[in-house]
Amino acid sequence: MEVIKLHIVDGVAWVTIERQAKLNALNETVLNELEHTFFDLKDNDAVRVIVVTGAGEKSFVAGADINQFPSMSPDDAYQFARRGQAVFSLIEASAKPVIAAVNGFALGGGCELALACHLRFASENAIFGQPEVKLGVIAGFGGTQRLPRLIGRGRALDLLLSGRMVKADEALQLGLVNGVFPQAELVSKVGDYAQLLMAQGPLAQAFTLQAVYGGIEGTLAAGLETEASAFRDVFKTEDHIEGANAFLERRSPDFKNR
Ligand code: COA
Repeated sequence: MEVIKLHIVDGVAWVTIERQAKLNALNETVLNELEHTFFDLKDNDAVRVIVVTGAGEKSFVAGADINQFPSMSPDDAYQFARRGQAVFSLIEASAKPVIAAVNGFALGGGCELALACHLRFASENAIFGQPEVKLGVIAGFGGTQRLPRLIGRGRALDLLLSGRMVKADEALQLGLVNGVFPQAELVSKVGDYAQLLMAQGPLAQAFTLQAVYGGIEGTLAAGLETEASAFRDVFKTEDHIEGANAFLERRSPDFKNR
């Protein structure tokens, strides 16, 4: 891998985008390597939780690579949007929890990458935004769809139409991030949170993600049916018996992911 570095520590896969000279901006190589990395992690039994972050102390991802914009035809732009969307949808579809550790600028495609992750934690110096309108274009890697779903249409339109950037504290107020930590503590705090996730039933988490993402697009009635089906499926697992036994025997569960 040229621009993605993968470190697996105690069941947590740290996926770092390393293109620091361009503030980790997303070009075709980054998208391809992100896709390969997530395909591989899907089947890696040593990995229970995935963290995506950017190299350096300045930037998570400063957006799609703007250098390619001037030469793009409208059809190229469509294909580029679909390509970025496909990679981010693959990340969102992960059955293992995916956390964005946002360590600096999360602009444009960087903000959209964070939105495709299941949870987002930011350092105090993080800056979020969808500044595409400043360039005369629009968000194309899911921002017009995931941002309103996460923070509401009015708040999303504020960011999408003005292009203004928000600091971590405002991102927390907006519900854009789950927590904010001092920059020096981001990795350890996210690592601690990842361990908290690891202590829970992995199949229960996978079914939770399936129910939440599968249900949220439809009616409440359809979503409740999705939930009940997932509830039934989780009762086909061995882990649900271990979870109940561990509670009754006053010990920590030893989930086997089956
Ligand atoms: N695409 C391509 N290159 C980018 C980039 C992007 N989205 N964002 C930053 N870079 C590059 C810069 O061109 C510069 O490269 P250079 O040193 O070869 O000239 C390098 O990264 C450092 O960026 P620079 O602008 O010098 O840093 P800064 O601290 O002055 O400003 C930002 C930081 C993030 C405010 C600024 O880089 C920026 O506005 N980037 C674009 C953000 C954006 O609009 N993203 C959405 C794209 S659709």
